[in-house]
Amino acid sequence: MNTFGKITLGFALALSATSASVSIASAAKLTLYCSAQEDWCQLMARGFEEASGIKVNLTRKSSGETFAQIKAEEANPKGDVWWGGTGDPHLQAAEEGLSEPYVSPMRAKLNGWAVSQAKSADDKTIGIYSGALGYGYNADLLNAAGLPVPACWKDLLKPEYKGHVQMANPNSSGTAYTTLATIVQLFGEDEGFEFMKKLHVNINQYTKSGSAPIKAAGRGENTIGIVFMHDAVKQAVSGFPIKVVAPCEGTGYEIGSMSLIKGGRNPESAKKFYDWALSADVQSRSLEVKAFQVMSNMNAKSSPSAPDLSTIKLIDYDFKKYGSSAERKRLLKKWDDEVSVLPQ
Ligand code: G6P
Repeated sequence: MNTFGKITLGFALALSATSASVSIASAAKLTLYCSAQEDWCQLMARGFEEASGIKVNLTRKSSGETFAQIKAEEANPKGDVWWGGTGDPHLQAAEEGLSEPYVSPMRAKLNGWAVSQAKSADDKTIGIYSGALGYGYNADLLNAAGLPVPACWKDLLKPEYKGHVQMANPNSSGTAYTTLATIVQLFGEDEGFEFMKKLHVNINQYTKSGSAPIKAAGRGENTIGIVFMHDAVKQAVSGFPIKVVAPCEGTGYEIGSMSLIKGGRNPESAKKFYDWALSADVQSRSLEVKAFQVMSNMNAKSSPSAPDLSTIKLIDYDFKKYGSSAERKRLLKKWDDEVSVLPQ
């Protein structure tokens, strides 16, 4: 073989080696179940594809719905990572053996509350963000209807707000389950359920997704939406006439979480995503989609528009109790049996 032949052969070998490695890389994939807002889920999926070359198959569903899906797929898991959504159903998934323990090298960079979430679940989940519950209202609609400005949880029970309040269904939505658990912790179970029954009379619709009520308020289709305060702020900074309320009695909060799904088909890709999602740069990108939660990485950027949790009266939310399988099932059944069936 002459020199030219050797070079050609060498070049061909190099080329085929390159295409082999390209096809191996492009074979790597990840199925991501996401329970944060759709735009943030998309940003995370596409951002990870760009950073890793791993193809992401994304499904967005609310926290309770995703929990139910992972449970239904237990014998034949289809998802790899569950990212976002309230922590309670992630804790329930851990307890029911639906998620895999993992200690990420990124853990040292995280706030204490995010690591406590992991420790309380034998490392089967971890905190990625935190945010306080509250509500928001459309100031134009409120004025037009001549309604008083609400400031407390109990204000929402007043008869004049009938048909003006919207929240999600606590079975599908982690936001709404956090609402139910918060009201029970604030007022005690008996009074808490009386509250939910009276509130029911004023509710115009139980939505599937937690943030839907404040999006509807932003569009002028609903007056008051019970949501995480950061979801109401997102509407306000997007130019809608939404005012945000931290209820006067105090309020609960979430530790939005991430879990590796047990028996997932792409465990290596899943761990890469997990470590990547805990980095400061990736968490700072939340601001691009106006996701104003407090991020778990201590060096992630926050926005001056974000609700300042240190100024909000927060209850000592009992995640262990309200994230336990028995308690979550019991409260949801009680709400189904005693609240949702009442006439409005
Ligand atoms: C919104 C919030 C998140 C929360 C999520 C829960 O996306 O921004 O902080 O974790 O709702 O969604 P869900 O539909 O389950 O209430």
